[in-house]
Amino acid sequence: MKINANYLNLKDSYLFSTIAKKVNAYTQAHPDKNIIRLGIGDVTRPLCSAVIEALHNAVDDMSTATGFHGYGPEQGYDFVKQPIQAYYRKRGVELELDEIFISDGAKSDVGNILDLFSKDNTVLVPDPVYPVYVDTNIMDGRNILYMNANADNGFLPLPDENVHADLIYLCSPNNPTGAVYNKEQLAAWVQYAKECGAVILFDAAYEAFISDNALPHSIFEIEGAKDCAIEFCSLSKTAGFTGTRCGYTIVPHALVADGIELNKLWLRRQTTKFNGTSYIVQKGAAAVFTDEGQKQIRQTIAYYMNNAKIIADALDEIGVWYTGGQNSPYIWLKCPNQMDSWSFFDYLLENANVVGTPGAGFGANGEGFFRLTAFGDQDQTAQAVDRIKKLLAK
Ligand code: MLT
Repeated sequence: MKINANYLNLKDSYLFSTIAKKVNAYTQAHPDKNIIRLGIGDVTRPLCSAVIEALHNAVDDMSTATGFHGYGPEQGYDFVKQPIQAYYRKRGVELELDEIFISDGAKSDVGNILDLFSKDNTVLVPDPVYPVYVDTNIMDGRNILYMNANADNGFLPLPDENVHADLIYLCSPNNPTGAVYNKEQLAAWVQYAKECGAVILFDAAYEAFISDNALPHSIFEIEGAKDCAIEFCSLSKTAGFTGTRCGYTIVPHALVADGIELNKLWLRRQTTKFNGTSYIVQKGAAAVFTDEGQKQIRQTIAYYMNNAKIIADALDEIGVWYTGGQNSPYIWLKCPNQMDSWSFFDYLLENANVVGTPGAGFGANGEGFFRLTAFGDQDQTAQAVDRIKKLLAK
């Protein structure tokens, strides 16, 4: 037996596990401290009442012989795919129902999609970026090229004609920087992908946080993107499903490589390795897309965006440089006094009892930066920001 030795090329533990370990060790050593967690992007508001009601009803369905559901279609029930189709239609994007695949979240699909691609492919990822893109490709031993995202390009790198890539990861609104590509910039990526014969893996997990109407929520708002892109989305941040688990992936029929539709390959992969998201959860997910559900999730998103403003206002007040927090729940700030990002993590944890995420965890270009999330409780966020202000004013 031989192990997949590529795993030995990974860092010892996943970024958010490392942070959790550090915070747990600190909490155990200082049980009296009130730690405020603005690190991992995990939501804190309860599921909205439209979802709760749908979940209850679905549980009741399961208690009767007529309402009971066993295995469902691996790619999801039409009762949730239809409202997703209508959600895209509102933005002028027409999708076939069988181009939509329901899953247990974007993270799994972003990793699993790699089953479809040869390990010889060259991968292009922005730096800094959500670590799952890099780690899952390291596991497969693919060659990874990095594109610099920095303050000069607004953390939105554009294609470099001199670089050839087969798989391109884009995340907009971006995790961790909060930067959002506009339509012209995404059009440049679509054109580049077509010239390279590459596939764009577009992570739209934070699309619901876009408030600027001119900004695209989906890569498929760009003409020609269906020929060269797969989109991942999730209800985790949109509707508080981080613990409930539901996402969706769009694989257009127009996306063809070597004469083969990737949609067919993904269906084959999912029917073989995945038995579908639970009926109960899909019922809850469908409720997100009802008028009532949309109204309710908008209120929760507004709550989080108010947290983002509380954080941003405080940073303005003490003169700390930051970006994000406008069309995104993440604030990406420059560590004060030239501190490196893990030192700033320790400094904040020990002196303000506030947890954030060190920029270096998202890539080399994240060094010297730090991410705060707006997904906390409002009072706790205000308290955290107060502590940060007092500490940095010293
Ligand atoms: C994050 O903090 O970056 C998120 O939790 C990522 C995720 O959704 O897995």
